Amino acid sequence: MTDRFETHEHDVLIIGAGGAGLRAAIEAMAQGARVGVVCKSLLGKAHTVMAEGGIAAAMANVDTADDWRTHFRDTMRGGKFLNNWRMAQLHAQESPERVKELEHWGALFDRTQDGNILQRAFGGHTYKRLCHVGDRTGLEMIRTLQDRGVQMGFDVFMECTILRLLTVGGRIAGAFGYWRETGRFVVFKAKSVVMATGGIGKAWKVTSNSWEYTGDGEALAYEAGADLLDMEFVQFHPTGMIWPPGVAGILVTEAVRGEGGILTNKSGERFMQRYDSKRMELSTRDEVARAIYTEVKEGRGSEHGGAYLDISHKPADYVKKKLPSMYHQFKDLADVDITAGPMEVGPTCHYMMGGIRVDAETARSTLPGLYACGEAAAGLHGANRLGGNSLSDLLVFGRRAGLAAAEYAKGIAQPSVDTAQIEESERGMLAPFERAEGESPYAVHRDLQEAMQDLVGIFRVEEDLKKALVELQKLRARANRVKVEGSRMFNPGWHMARDLQHMLTVAQAVTISALARKESRGAHSRIDFPKNDDTWGKQNNLIRKERGEMVLRQESTRDLPDDLQQILAEEK
Ligand code: FUM
Repeated sequence: MTDRFETHEHDVLIIGAGGAGLRAAIEAMAQGARVGVVCKSLLGKAHTVMAEGGIAAAMANVDTADDWRTHFRDTMRGGKFLNNWRMAQLHAQESPERVKELEHWGALFDRTQDGNILQRAFGGHTYKRLCHVGDRTGLEMIRTLQDRGVQMGFDVFMECTILRLLTVGGRIAGAFGYWRETGRFVVFKAKSVVMATGGIGKAWKVTSNSWEYTGDGEALAYEAGADLLDMEFVQFHPTGMIWPPGVAGILVTEAVRGEGGILTNKSGERFMQRYDSKRMELSTRDEVARAIYTEVKEGRGSEHGGAYLDISHKPADYVKKKLPSMYHQFKDLADVDITAGPMEVGPTCHYMMGGIRVDAETARSTLPGLYACGEAAAGLHGANRLGGNSLSDLLVFGRRAGLAAAEYAKGIAQPSVDTAQIEESERGMLAPFERAEGESPYAVHRDLQEAMQDLVGIFRVEEDLKKALVELQKLRARANRVKVEGSRMFNPGWHMARDLQHMLTVAQAVTISALARKESRGAHSRIDFPKNDDTWGKQNNLIRKERGEMVLRQESTRDLPDDLQQILAEEK
């Protein structure tokens, strides 16, 4: 029956071609695996490029006192101690090696006077730790990894969306998808799959994420039976563009603050003094985002409802050299010269700390044969991620995922795929064409974004979260009845009809987790439970599909071993 479809066969299939997917692919190939990489858009276009300011790694090139222990402690403190401590340890220990490797593969970093990789300050990091390439670090990383992967010879499948993970006997057997251009279906047979699809920002109205980030990985893994972890933790980056409206949400890198940028309100007050007088603009993202939100809410916001961010006290040449993308972004999109005056900024939905539950050493999910890394995976960042830790995360755990997925594939024969699963997916995908009437999927998406922005945003309260769940139910019913016009060729409305299903699944998981966590921690701020709670501080929220229903349960975190406890107790 699969003869009806174009079919490809690999040992390891990587879904997603951002930094995590590419690093996983490189490692799996290094183990001798036949590797396929599926990307929803074009190779080279990934949200990784939005981590502009740098890769966090304790290289100690600028601040010689830095070491993995301090990086570990900063990451745990930033994550409000809900992090998977073993992941935080491996991440801090292995990041410097992964950065050196990247340099060896051709990444061109900014340099110190003596020729080492230059490192800059970022929020929540004790030392200057971010290895960077101006404000285009993610882009340089993708370029380097892509060159290496292509040279090693992985198969690339561009503009292809995965609709379903295929399983046989509770194990991964491959994936089923379609070509966005032609609308034709395609089967990927694989012994193991690495999920590296990134985040879910498109479920919110104001986001730094581009159209691909619809929670596909999290939703596909959940549908196939894997656990999701701590989905309530969604990061709002404090500084996105807010004006003009057409560019609202586009990222303004934290590197602006790392290079000395100052935040003020409409009275010219440096308001971070009232929220975190020690770290000021270099406080953690959750704190700065809440501070800007509060200033606006209390009537002290900037002209268009945000805050002013000013770097113009630095020499113009310096700003253009260190922040070239920001200079052009504001000049071209907002007609603002950031070397001469302030930018206007406000919070934007940026990153998902929750995601697919994985084992720290191997990035293995709870579904045999499925691995996950990068933003699609959960654990490392706990309740709040520090800037720059995403790029090091995807190098460290991308490598581990690729390694483990290839090892797993070595031990098994190519599984056969289940045609019933494929047929069910095909029917569901084609249904919007067959309806006599129904509304546009874009209308449902717009209302989903409004609901998530208004009811499951930076500050949350029980009443809103309950309202959101009712809204999501209605939106799901509407999404199940959307109608799509035209043919399967180049049909964005049809693509949206499908993406909506993933966004709704993830939005539901975020909302029920947020409702359950009756405390405030990191990026999860409950107005009705404003404090940390010690019991919740030792509990993860787990989501699983059971008998067709989304089920939430709590599980206790593992205690830290004494040596790591000791590191956390040290004051720096
Ligand atoms: O602000 C930034 O450059 C983003 C970095 C990150 O998300 O790690």
